[in-house]
Amino acid sequence: MTASASAEPVTGHGPGVEPHDAVDVIRTKRDGGAVSDGALRWMIDAYTRGYVADAQMAAFAMAVLLNGMTREEVRVMTAAMIASGERMSFAGLGKPTVDKHSTGGVGDKITLPLAPLVACFGVAVPQLSGRGLGHTGGTLDKLESIPGWTAALTNDELFAQLREVGAVICAAGSGLAPADKKLYALRDVTGTVEAIPLIASSIMSKKIAEGTDSLVLDVKFGSGAFMKDVDKARELARTMVEIGTDSGVATTALLTDMNTPLGLAIGNANEVRESVEVLAGGGPADVVELTLALAREMLALAGQPDADVEAALKDGRAMDAWREMIRAQDGDPDAALPAPRETHTVTATETGFVTGMEALPFGIAAWRLGAGRARAEDPVMHAAGIDLHVKPGDAISAGQPLFTLLGHDAHRFERAMDALEGAWSIGPDAPDPRPLVLERITE
Ligand code: URA
Repeated sequence: MTASASAEPVTGHGPGVEPHDAVDVIRTKRDGGAVSDGALRWMIDAYTRGYVADAQMAAFAMAVLLNGMTREEVRVMTAAMIASGERMSFAGLGKPTVDKHSTGGVGDKITLPLAPLVACFGVAVPQLSGRGLGHTGGTLDKLESIPGWTAALTNDELFAQLREVGAVICAAGSGLAPADKKLYALRDVTGTVEAIPLIASSIMSKKIAEGTDSLVLDVKFGSGAFMKDVDKARELARTMVEIGTDSGVATTALLTDMNTPLGLAIGNANEVRESVEVLAGGGPADVVELTLALAREMLALAGQPDADVEAALKDGRAMDAWREMIRAQDGDPDAALPAPRETHTVTATETGFVTGMEALPFGIAAWRLGAGRARAEDPVMHAAGIDLHVKPGDAISAGQPLFTLLGHDAHRFERAMDALEGAWSIGPDAPDPRPLVLERITE
C-alpha cells in the first residue's frame, strides 16, 4: 500500500528496520496493548518515508491519545523520531553542554539572561530556539530586536562560538527530527496534539537530536501555558524526564507557575531590555528567581552544584558573556532598541491591591498589538507589546498606571483592549503569594 505520491521512491522500511503492518500496529494500540519496539520503529520510519498513510498515522495518534503509551514505547518512539533526521554531537568541544527548554509562556524571556549566565562557568550552552506562534513569544523574535543580530549560524559557526564564548542562541536546523515535523502537522488537524506521550516525544526528540549532554526543562502550568492543568503539566514533566534519562541525557524539570506573565515586559524589544536589566543585577524579582533556579539546575547537571550564580549576575560576569554572545552573532549590544510610535496607558479606577493579572489575555493582547504572528511566515513588530507597571500583590491607588500598550498602529489598541476585558482585578486585600517554582522533578 503506497500512501502518497512522491518524486522519491517510497519504500516500506529504511536500513535496519524490519517491515510491519500499519493496521496491526493501530489495532494493538486501539485495544490497549503495547506496540513492540520493532513495530514502533517501523511505523515512524515508514510514516516519514510516506509509506504509512496520514489516515493510518492519525488513527494511531488517536489510539495513543486514548490509551497512552508505556515508558518503553515512549522511549522507542522518541528514538525513532531522532533517527529520522540529523543528530548533532558536541563531543569534540572539550566542555560539558547543557541546554534548557521551556514549554512556553507569556513574558518568558528567561533564555536571554540564562544562557550567558551559565556560560560564565565554563559550560557550553547551545540554545537552539524557535520563533513564536500564537500568544507565546519566540526567543529568536526577541533577539532579532537587536540591530544586526542574526539567528542563522552554520554548524561550524555554532561550534566556534560554543568553544570561544560558551553561549549560543540560534535557529534550530530543519534537519532535526523530520518525523516530528510531519507528525506534529498531522496532530494539529486531527485533535491529537494533547496526547502527553506525543507531546513529550515531540519535544524531547528535537532536544536530544541537538546533542546536549544534559537538559533542564521548565514545564509551565496555568492560564498562559500550553498545559493549563498542573497535574497534566506534572505528568508531561515526568514523561520528559524519563525520556531524557532513558536516552542517556541527564534531565531534570521544574514545574513553574504561568498564571501571571513573567516579569513586567511582554513583547520583543521590551523583553530584551528587561533581560539586560537582569544581567545588570536588577530586573523584576520573578525573572531573577527563575533565571537563578534554572541556572542552578543546569550547573548541577554540568557537575557544578555549588556554583554561585547570584554573584555572576551581580558582578557583571554574566553581562560580559551576554555582550560577547550578541557581538559574536553580529548584534550591537549598545544599539538603541526599536521604540513604539504609539502608546496607551491604562490606569486603575480604584484603590487597593492588584489581586490578579491573567497571563493568557495579556499574551493575546501583545500578539494583537503585533508582537507575535498568526502564521509562520508573518513578520513581528519588535517594538510592539505591553509594559506592566504593577504585578499581583502590589498596592495601587486610583489613577495610577496599570500597564501600557506599545505599538506602531493605534488602531490595534482597541482589539488588544478587547482581549484584556476582565484580565486584571483589584481588591481590598493583598492576595496570598503563590510560589513561582512549584516542584522539582527528577528520576
Ligand atoms: N511543542 C512541541 O514541540 N511539540 C508538541 O507536541 C507540543 C509542543
